Amino acid sequence: MRTQVGIIGAGPAGLLLSHLLHLAGIESVLLETQTRKHVEERVRAGVLEEVAERLLIDTGVGGRLKREGLRHHGIKIRYNGEGHRIDFKHLTGSHVTVYGQQEVVKDLIAVRLGAGGDIRFEVAEVSPHDFEGAEPHIRFMENGKQQVLHCDFIAGCDGFHGVCRPAIPSSSLTVFEREYPFGWLGVLVEAPPASEELIYAHHERGFALLSMRSPQVSRLYVQCDPNDDIANWSDARVWEEFHARMSGDDGVRQQEGRIIQKGITAMRSFVVEPMQHGKLFLAGDAAHIVPPTGAKGMNLAVADVSILSRALEAYYKKGREELLAAYSAICLRRIWKVQRFSWWMTSMLHKFAEHTPFDRRRQLAEIDYVTSSRAAATSLAENYVGLPMERDWVQDNRKTQSRSSNDFFRARLANPWAAFRKRRDARHILG
Ligand code: APR
Ligand code: PHB
Repeated sequence: MRTQVGIIGAGPAGLLLSHLLHLAGIESVLLETQTRKHVEERVRAGVLEEVAERLLIDTGVGGRLKREGLRHHGIKIRYNGEGHRIDFKHLTGSHVTVYGQQEVVKDLIAVRLGAGGDIRFEVAEVSPHDFEGAEPHIRFMENGKQQVLHCDFIAGCDGFHGVCRPAIPSSSLTVFEREYPFGWLGVLVEAPPASEELIYAHHERGFALLSMRSPQVSRLYVQCDPNDDIANWSDARVWEEFHARMSGDDGVRQQEGRIIQKGITAMRSFVVEPMQHGKLFLAGDAAHIVPPTGAKGMNLAVADVSILSRALEAYYKKGREELLAAYSAICLRRIWKVQRFSWWMTSMLHKFAEHTPFDRRRQLAEIDYVTSSRAAATSLAENYVGLPMERDWVQDNRKTQSRSSNDFFRARLANPWAAFRKRRDARHILG
């Protein structure tokens, strides 16, 4: 079996990469260990930056996103029992869209299969080989039979616990990591969200977040011990903690409803450098993890594969290798800024056991500053709605910038090369 790009992992990174490659006329085969049902039902993050939303819409996978995605022009930060709005529209001209990651996954699977794409679910024992040499290939088991997929390149989109990153010699990689002494308990609830916008709450009992999936379904989180047993969190305890942390004088009170999903996620910041080794390229969670407070996990996966697909396109259509060589460096500039933002939001809003009274006062002063200074609020807002994808998209104001990135994707669909011509080489992109 042979293809141009062998992709491991059918999360947002792998699926979107195979879709973008297909639009560019590049063949891929996607290998996934889980069932289709499992990947389509896995409850994950739910906030899309405008640039990621536009990429999905402009590449033809945004039909349902346009109808069902909830456009948000701000968030609320709550402390000392009071809500303070950060107005994205006013501060940046931009917005985010709340749309569950598993919905993005469903839409991408439908579009790929509809276009005759080759996605193999439920394969086993997947392993990448010879990506340092001339014959890259992936071995896997399918229906009890050993298979070999030969390819020009391997894309490791297999998440944090996948096989691709560990297949790279550890002497070639540097890991940057920070674990947090807390996790998030997340629940999905059949009840309308108490607020039209997300509420991030700082509270002496710990952080809480009110989010949503639709006008009828709420997504709620409370800070907890990352090693806690989910069995310790009865529905009654979840409600008690959530109400206590969201309490205040302004009457925000989440309506209770049936809890249809419950889980605890540990929080870490993680980056591996470089994100490539020979002909193996890592993308998404396989290369980096952010704590969820900045709502960036899915957006980083989208940014990585948008860059990787363009680099592969440059290779196949023009024989140019410099974008592939620069893939990691281009991605990492964005990734580190997003890491900084996610770490900062996490540090500002959570309760840390080791905090001294001084640290607690400083933390409150920081939230006070962010919610009362236009400059500080703008910094939060521009990071939350999403930094521009590349340096040469940065314009003096976001309206112009939106237009230029829109034009980029349109041009790319109509004529994949038009947009590339504007980008002379990797050095230009890196500025
Ligand atoms: N072989 C094939 N597939 C694998 C293997 C393997 N050995 N190991 C893992 N996978 C699959 C997983 O089952 C999963 O479907 O790879 C996929 C990785 O998908 P994600 O974990 O969703 O990662 P990614 O596509 O990078 O998306 C990042 O996911 O965890 C969230 O917050 C994160 O929003 C971010 C997004
Ligand atoms: C979510 O809706 O799942 C969500 C929203 C915002 C975050 C994290 C998660 O910061």
